[in-house]
Amino acid sequence: MNRFVTLARRDGVGVITIDNPPVNALSRAVAEEAGACLAEAASDAEIRAVVVMGAGRTFVAGADISELQKAELPELHSLLSACENLPKPVVMAIHGTALGGGLELAMAGHYRVVAVGAQVGQPEVNLGIIPGAEGTQRLPRLAGVARALEMCVTGAPISAPDALAAGIIDKVVTSDLLEGAAAFALEAAASGGPWPKASERNEKLGTPEQNAPLFAAAREQASRVRRNQTAPLKAVEAIEAATTLPFAEGSRAERALFAECLRSAQARAMMHAFFAEREVAKVPGIEKDTAVREIASVAIVGAGTMGGGIAMAFANVGIPVRITDNDPAALERGMATIRRNYVNSVARGRFTAEVMGERMSRIRPQSGYDGFGEADLIIEAVFEDLALKKTIFAALNAIAKPSSILASNTSTLNIDELAASTSCPASVVGLHFFSPANVMRLVEIVRGRDTGADVIATALALAKRLKKVGVVVGNCPGFVGNRMLLPYMREAQFLVEEGATPWAVDQALYDWGMAMGVFAVDDMAGIDVAWRVHQAHKHLHEPGERTPLVLDKLYDMGRLGQKTGRGWHRYDENRKPSPDPEVEALIEQAARDAGIERRAIGDQEIVERCIYALVNEGARILEEGFALRAGDIDTIYLTGYGFPIYRGGPMWYASEVGFAEVHRRICEFRQRHGELWEPAPLLTRLANERKNQWPA
Ligand code: 3HC
Ligand code: NAI
Repeated sequence: MNRFVTLARRDGVGVITIDNPPVNALSRAVAEEAGACLAEAASDAEIRAVVVMGAGRTFVAGADISELQKAELPELHSLLSACENLPKPVVMAIHGTALGGGLELAMAGHYRVVAVGAQVGQPEVNLGIIPGAEGTQRLPRLAGVARALEMCVTGAPISAPDALAAGIIDKVVTSDLLEGAAAFALEAAASGGPWPKASERNEKLGTPEQNAPLFAAAREQASRVRRNQTAPLKAVEAIEAATTLPFAEGSRAERALFAECLRSAQARAMMHAFFAEREVAKVPGIEKDTAVREIASVAIVGAGTMGGGIAMAFANVGIPVRITDNDPAALERGMATIRRNYVNSVARGRFTAEVMGERMSRIRPQSGYDGFGEADLIIEAVFEDLALKKTIFAALNAIAKPSSILASNTSTLNIDELAASTSCPASVVGLHFFSPANVMRLVEIVRGRDTGADVIATALALAKRLKKVGVVVGNCPGFVGNRMLLPYMREAQFLVEEGATPWAVDQALYDWGMAMGVFAVDDMAGIDVAWRVHQAHKHLHEPGERTPLVLDKLYDMGRLGQKTGRGWHRYDENRKPSPDPEVEALIEQAARDAGIERRAIGDQEIVERCIYALVNEGARILEEGFALRAGDIDTIYLTGYGFPIYRGGPMWYASEVGFAEVHRRICEFRQRHGELWEPAPLLTRLANERKNQWPA
């Protein structure tokens, strides 16, 4: 008996249902069983037409990524060919999402009918691969070369109406999908055929003259929006093959390119990132049935950079927010910034003015705490000052209803100290959003000593509702992301003192894949912010420990970064950075004064010192239990710190390089640069044991 795919008979229609929860991934077993059902439907004289559909919440969301992760090539070609060559019409009935192998299966049917709200796409590039089941060959035949390029290079899905207009689907069904699909199938059967095969349709494939600029534009787009990634370029190559070779040969070309991508380090890293991002929601002690508190309304204290962004994040998903600030001018500025951000989004066509109106109306600015007592969640986002935050927590404690969650957006302070100012420490949690909070996906959920399991479960559910990624972290200074950032930034500064320039460091890290260089980030956030963090950590330094020399001087000179037009870099009126000889002279002088010998430093050393500084601190955090898994740390860096997804995150990257090699280099750095490079005990142990995976 089949486990995943069944064939039912319904008034002359064979209904094949794929039931492999949660997303009907097309595993080998599913493909085999679907093939068997098709064969049975073909030989059953009572069946005049076939409908293929998915059980549960969606059609097929793609090949099974856990099988691909083992570098197993999916065996889908015989299924697709059986489908397309069935001597009866095959109608694909799509609801939810038909993605990757799911859309490829759908395109092998003769017709596609979809439910309202369904989406189709070829998201394989998100996993470092290309469509590997003839998607690059059928999609341009149905939708044209330009649309196929767009979909395969960006990986973005398209809506049912767009898919209809593009020719990918044949009908949007507004009533019951199965009924609509079955009626469509019987009508097709009555017509007697032949039924259209996408593989035989060449009319949309264009001429070499028409296609050449499309391929050039797609390659340009790929190198821009997916910098340094190989899969999108291979996808273009595969679509190019569709336009120059017969279907069977084009499919062979696609298969070879697919295999190449599947075995690449980029695919391994991106598949790791896919599962790591989903794993973060699994927290020991938090079960599916852990009670969650209802969050229907939110209140925010502090209408600055973060408070405003957080308010937008809630308003965007339909949750009303009150926001207050003790400085009326700041409140006004904050609201003006929110409005300006929304106006820009409307101007860019992201949503309509009407949607903007709805979102604005959900944000209620006010002085004082009126109504805060009814809020289900109150988030504090005032200056990073422990005494101030404690006062605010005590005040909130007095007015909040018992079921309310009290959260702080602090980036470094101790959540337990804030909880101690309240009578409900179980309801206190850190919700560390990243700037701009309406855009960045990461939220570190900081679990204090007493934070209740229901509060953690609520925060995780809330992050999902906000379309963000919530990662539960422990309560240590800087939590996970910023704690690792400190040694990363420190090494970057040491490198410039030893002879590199800020622009060379930034360029090397950018070329390696970071979204921005270290110093560009510092300039964007504000040198004063980094300076304050530096001041706050000064007491933690061991006597005689080497500390960066230049940051304080930039601060003293009022070079506060982009906002003053000068920081590590110099900025023009369009905020375009350029090297600044003044900074170079400052660094040289500081190095001379400190007796630091300057030398030429290559890109490789720059990258190794910065990235291995992240890894070493990450290993400590993992061993100390402040992160649950190495994959959680990777997710934090991928979603909050501009780490390149095709390198999988710092911890994954270290395992790809090999712990022994990373450890060897760190030991060399310690010899040369001192105790700050003491290797993390966990890393030493794994290197000695010749392991290549972080402990689970
Ligand atoms: N293979 C294996 N598992 C998958 C999967 C897939 N294709 N897609 C989703 N899952 C799993 C997730 O890991 C998760 O497991 P968990 O509950 O144990 O954590 C579960 O399904 C639910 O996934 P989400 O949490 O992501 O659920 P959402 O409802 O938020 O999103 C989705 C649903 C939009 C379908 C999203 O899961 C998604 O984008 N999936 C990946 C789609 C994709 O990339 N398809 C292409 C695969 S490669 C391919 O098809 C190659 C082919 O060309 C040969
Ligand atoms: P900000 O300076 O832009 O805003 C702080 C706001 O709090 C100001 O408008 C101020 O008037 C207001 N405020 C001060 N005391 C108040 C009081 N008693 N009652 C009501 N409002 C009061 O600061 P920003 O950048 O928004 O930071 C806020 C918090 O978020 C800090 O804890 C910071 O560490 C954290 N954070 C900041 C990030 C960033 O990139 N800016 C990123 C992540 C966290």
